[in-house]
Amino acid sequence: MKILVIGNGGREHAIAWKLAQSNLVDLVYVAPGNGGTATGNQKIKNINLKNNHELIDFAKQNNIELTVVGPELPLSLGIVNDFHKHGLNIFGPTKEAAQLESSKDFAKAFMKKHQIPTADYQTFTEIKKAHAYILEKGAPIVIKADGLAAGKGVIVAQTEDEAIAAVNSMLADNKFGNAGARVVIEEFLTGEEASFIVIADGENILPLASSQDHKRLLNDDLGPNTGGMGAYSPAPIVDDALHEKIMNLVIKPTVQGMKQDGFNFVGFLYAGLMIDANKNIKTLEFNCRLGDPETQPLLFRIKSDLLPVLLNATQGKLNESIIEWEDGYSITVVMAAENYPNTPKLGDVISQLECNDSDCFIFHAGTKKVSEEILTSGGRVLGVTAKAMNLSEAQKKVYQLTKQIQFKGSQYRTDIGNKAFNRISEKS
Ligand code: AMP
Ligand code: GLY
Repeated sequence: MKILVIGNGGREHAIAWKLAQSNLVDLVYVAPGNGGTATGNQKIKNINLKNNHELIDFAKQNNIELTVVGPELPLSLGIVNDFHKHGLNIFGPTKEAAQLESSKDFAKAFMKKHQIPTADYQTFTEIKKAHAYILEKGAPIVIKADGLAAGKGVIVAQTEDEAIAAVNSMLADNKFGNAGARVVIEEFLTGEEASFIVIADGENILPLASSQDHKRLLNDDLGPNTGGMGAYSPAPIVDDALHEKIMNLVIKPTVQGMKQDGFNFVGFLYAGLMIDANKNIKTLEFNCRLGDPETQPLLFRIKSDLLPVLLNATQGKLNESIIEWEDGYSITVVMAAENYPNTPKLGDVISQLECNDSDCFIFHAGTKKVSEEILTSGGRVLGVTAKAMNLSEAQKKVYQLTKQIQFKGSQYRTDIGNKAFNRISEKS
C-alpha cells in the first residue's frame, strides 16, 4: 500500500517513520518532507507538490490509499474536504471541524456551549472595548489572536501595559493580519501543562499516551514561547484518575459536541491542558493535529502498527482498534538554530548525525539535503529522541546523542524531563 504524508516538520518525519514500519506499507511519500525523510529509509520518499490540485492528482495517479495531514494550515484550508470531493481517503478533520484550532473564538464559544472547562474570556474586535476589559480585569492576563499564528499569537501579559500593547499590535497594527483581527482576552491560569491527544473517528475515541511539551526557549521555562523545545511521554502528572477526568470533562464532550453541532471530528484531537495543584483541569487550546514535538516521543513508544488504526478511523471503525505501548519513557530534545525563535540562521552544515542505538532516533525538522550534506533550513532543526525503561536513563541517552551532533550556533534546553522527576521517585 502507498501512503502520502503532508508536511515537512519533525512531526511528519515521525509519522512517516512510523507508518513505513507497517508490513502493509510499500512506500510512504512525504510532501514536501525534509532532510530526514530524504535519507536513510528506502520506504520513505520526498515529493515536491505545490497545491491541493497537485496533491490530489498525485494521490489518484499513484493509487495512494491513505493520506495523513501533519500541520494545521492545510487542514484549516480544507484539504480534507477537497480530497473527499475526489473520493480519496484522507485522515484529518474537515475545514469546519478544524475550526477548533483555526479560530480561538470558535473554540472558546464551543467550550462555553458544551460546558468544557476553560478560562473565562471575552472576544473583541474593537480596540477601546478591549482596553477597557483589560483595565477592568487587571494583569496578568492573556491575549490571543483569533486565527492561526504559528504558536506566536498568544501573549501572556504580566502588566496591563503589556496587554494593551499586545491588543494594539493585533487590532491596530495588524501584526498578525487577519488572524489578529479578532482577539480573545482570557483569564491567566497557573499550574502545570500537559498535552492530551486522542484519535477520533467522529464518534469513537482512542486516546494516545500522555505527553508534556516545553514551550519556552530556555531552561526552567524561561525566555520566549516557541513551537516547543522538547517533550516526553508519558507525563506522570496524568495519572489514571486524571486521565479519566480529562476524558469525561474534555475529550468526550468535545467529540460529542462537535457531532451534535454538525462537524464530525475525524483526526488527531489535541487538548492543551492546565492542571492546578488540586488537579482541576482547564483547556487552554485545541489543536486538530498531532503536536510537534510531542509526536516524536509518542510515536517512538508505540509498539503496534499505527496504519490499521488510522485506516479504521477514516471508516468510523476506531472501536475495532487498539494501540500497544512500550513500557518506560521516551524523550525528545529539540535542537534549534541560532537566533530561534526570532530570525533563525539557516544553511549551516549538520555533522555527526549517526546513531547506532535502536533506542535512539534523530527526527529531522528544519533540515534539507543538498548533495550529500544535511543543512539547517528551519528554526527547530532536529528532534533528538531516546527511550528507556526509566526516564533518567532515557534522559541520559538523549543528551549523549545531543552532545554528539554538531552545527554552528545550535541551542537546546538541558532540562527536558526534569519536571517529571518531581513526580516520580526513580531518580537516584
Ligand atoms: P495556546 O496556543 O492557547 O495553547 O497558548 C500557548 C501557551 O500560552 C500555552 O501553552 C500556555 O503556556 C500559555 N497560555 C495560554 N493560555 C493561557 C492562560 N489562560 N493562562 C496562562 N497561560 C496561558
Ligand atoms: N507542541 C505544541 C503544538 O504542537 O502545538
